[in-house]
Amino acid sequence: MFKKIWISLFLAFSIYTALVYTQCDAGTAGSQPSDLDKSITAGRDIWQKHNCQSCHQLYGLGGYLGPELTNTASIKGSKYMSTIIKYGTGRMPNFHLTDSEVENLVHYLSWIDNSGNTRVAKENVHWTGTYILNDGK
Ligand code: HEC
Repeated sequence: MFKKIWISLFLAFSIYTALVYTQCDAGTAGSQPSDLDKSITAGRDIWQKHNCQSCHQLYGLGGYLGPELTNTASIKGSKYMSTIIKYGTGRMPNFHLTDSEVENLVHYLSWIDNSGNTRVAKENVHWTGTYILNDGK
């Protein structure tokens, strides 16, 4: 009797452990950039070096002189972003970055874009004030 219970507990534990180790979804959008993805991490370093966040928000946090940039990559596109980052505008400074620095920044901002969504549609705001996230973002 007790032997049967122990065997079934052991089996349940083994199956559950096997599932936990084989079914995880590490490596999908939103995960940390791998060391191999040098362009994204280089872009993050340039972002920090020039303190872009003093004027821009990511995930709603940062300065308010410039627009929120979390989802700019998918909304306005990488060509648009690289042009503004390279030349600046009347209000956005020109940092005199090289083409590869601009490219790294665009890769970094596109990676941020894949990791979440700061523009929550009205119908996705729950009455408790929390957000209903149904598209995995
Ligand atoms: C002094 C404040 C300031 C800093 C620092 C700054 N920006 Fe901006 N940025 C702005 C403003 C203001 C705008 C809006 C420009 C306009 O509409 O003329 C802007 C616009 C942008 C846009 C276009 C956004 C959109 O939705 O149109 C991108 C992309 C951008 N900045 C990236 C960067 C990056 C990358 C850095 C760091 C290298 C940076 N910014 C640093 C003020 C700043």
